Amino acid sequence: MTNKHARQPVTKAVVPAAGLGTRFLPATKATPKEMLPVVDKPAIQYVVEEAAAAGLSDILMVTGRNKRALEDHFDRAYELEELLSRKGDQERLRRVQESVQLASMHYVRQGDPKGLGHAVSVAEQHVAGQPFAVLLGDDLIDPRDPLLARMIEVQQELGGSVVALMEVDPAQIHLYGCAAVKSTELGEDVFQVTDLVEKPDTADAPSNYAVIGRYVLDPTVFDVLRETPPGRGGEIQLTDALRELATRDESDGGPVHGVLFKGRRYDTGDRADYLRAIVRLAAERDDLGPEFRTWLRQFVSTEMQG
Ligand code: UTP
Repeated sequence: MTNKHARQPVTKAVVPAAGLGTRFLPATKATPKEMLPVVDKPAIQYVVEEAAAAGLSDILMVTGRNKRALEDHFDRAYELEELLSRKGDQERLRRVQESVQLASMHYVRQGDPKGLGHAVSVAEQHVAGQPFAVLLGDDLIDPRDPLLARMIEVQQELGGSVVALMEVDPAQIHLYGCAAVKSTELGEDVFQVTDLVEKPDTADAPSNYAVIGRYVLDPTVFDVLRETPPGRGGEIQLTDALRELATRDESDGGPVHGVLFKGRRYDTGDRADYLRAIVRLAAERDDLGPEFRTWLRQFVSTEMQG
């Protein structure tokens, strides 16, 4: 095994948030889907909080049209802060200021949304040759089930790149990137990825391990992305670049490992999953939970019968 102390640390996170969010139209006509509220915080704030909790305080957000709302959310809101402070509303003031203090935020425009691989490639200059994390802005990992810190630990131990894997119903695998894997000695939750295929038909899928929206990437991915032609849906797919890296050894930017995630995760760009996220997180909140659970119980027992 290579000496992990020789590896460069992971200090930066890239958050692609430039997709068109077509599954959520018309809500996403003038608002990025990453700004849709999950209870009372936009989905993107959970993602930035997750990166900060894993020690990544330098965050580059890849934005597109409608980027103003995203930038404003992580910036000061002087009028609002002044008003709340004049009213002595310390609790709301704290909540307004929270998003500003999380991390050092940077922004880059993707231009045309040519796919996730393309969104990652525009981060090259900012990342400056170090391994880095990628957190998809519409993928919410429950804060109680940490994943990113483990992925960084595995990357520091094994080098190369690390993806997050989740077991899904084989009937659902066509919605995800899918990984063929073999076991490693690093633990039951760590696999070597031997192949990757984007959104395969169930019959062609090499496994039911789906790639979810967290990555720790070796910077060689940028060289590979430059050579990656548009794939499925005419988009430059990150999966295709990772597939190439999975065939390489460490001196050449490979290999790719997967960390198996068994916690709670929501795709907030999908309407049904978005609703599940809100119901679950609201029901479990100390402030809203008691009232909401009482209503929910009643709703399920009366309205949902038959
Ligand atoms: P999705 O495929 O879920 O985003 O990309 P989308 O294209 O906006 O969604 P639909 O299918 O039209 O509803 C996953 C993540 O990658 C970002 C998205 O913002 C999302 O966070 N993304 C995707 C980009 O930043 N740029 C792209 O060109 C594509």
